[in-house]
Amino acid sequence: MTGDIRSLATGLFRERFGRAPRALAVAPGRVNLIGEHTDYSGGHVLPMAVDRHVVVAFDAAGGQASRFCSADFPEMAEFDQRAPSSCGAGHWTNYVMGPAGVFSSQGRDIPAIDAAVAADLPKGAGLSSSAALEVASGLAFLSTAGCAGEVSPRSLALACQEAEHRYAGVKCGIMDQLSVACAEDGKAMYIDCHNLFVKTVELPAAMAVLVVDSGVPRKLAEAAYNQRREDCESAARKLSKELGRRVRLAEVTHDELNEFGRSALDKTELRRARHVVGEELRSSRAVDCLRRGDLEAFGELARESHRSLAEDFEVSCPELDKLVAAACRIEGVFGARLTGAGFGGAAVVFCRADGVGPISAELTAAYRARTGIETRPVLVRPSAGARVEQLR
Ligand code: GLA
Repeated sequence: MTGDIRSLATGLFRERFGRAPRALAVAPGRVNLIGEHTDYSGGHVLPMAVDRHVVVAFDAAGGQASRFCSADFPEMAEFDQRAPSSCGAGHWTNYVMGPAGVFSSQGRDIPAIDAAVAADLPKGAGLSSSAALEVASGLAFLSTAGCAGEVSPRSLALACQEAEHRYAGVKCGIMDQLSVACAEDGKAMYIDCHNLFVKTVELPAAMAVLVVDSGVPRKLAEAAYNQRREDCESAARKLSKELGRRVRLAEVTHDELNEFGRSALDKTELRRARHVVGEELRSSRAVDCLRRGDLEAFGELARESHRSLAEDFEVSCPELDKLVAAACRIEGVFGARLTGAGFGGAAVVFCRADGVGPISAELTAAYRARTGIETRPVLVRPSAGARVEQLR
């Protein structure tokens, strides 16, 4: 599949710029298995990069400005990579100019590039196409500047996270950019988002991972996401006061929350905190389950995660709830939950590897019957992180 995307990006580059690109920056999407909405509270997450990609074909530009075109959008974006200005919430060009702006503000001399973007990663479906676009574009700029080797994947991820804060206005955590930049082929990553330590986790061969788009576009998700982050931060501040030490919300224990939560927090903060504290426990248990191959227990944790995201964190929607409920009713499905930021987007479904065909068909039919929405589960495999491939 990514082969076609490579030729699409290369062909588009030739067509728009009249020459061949010098290299390709290839970045995978990611799906989060469990540990949702805990990264910005210093918790643990378990994402994996998927075998769907964004490809940026690029070369140094002749002029001073950078030019980006995309197979998915008609316009050609032109901007000064040393001092780009945001195009307003939701615009795709924020994700390509952002990393260049951050590198420039770090004092790097970032040259202008011409670039063509193509992807087989669905947009807005919870697979982090935006982080993939940031990381691929960031690599294209660094490679043209001749300093790709000096910037570690982790620093690249941090720069792209900052770009998302500054240019897209989303105060995201580090999970997406880190998994896209640092993933290892064949493995999921258990990330401690406080110190960015990563342990790799192998998925049992008996389990398949399906990503299923709910077909509900994420509306006003940026504002709602930032609000969730604020709720968590104010809960952490108040609990820190009670506990007499500075705590991240994800390190608060159940007992501490039970003791101080009701008196110190308002109702909303208490629910957000309950989700984060519970989810942190679930993710560490989930890793144990995967290591032991206990897929039934892993699936139960996924279902609990979804309930908590829907009821306490309030980031689900009726369609995602129906999708998850429909999936969990199917024989051979261990569990399912919304994945990524929520507010629409996708669910991740964990099922028997030897039942993917019939399970996908049954889920498509069940979701259609409940909502009238057509969807097609996508089987994803753990893949390697972003890289540059030289063409000449
Ligand atoms: C988005 C953000 C991540 C993370 C998830 C929720 O994908 O970019 O940092 O917070 O939502 O887990």
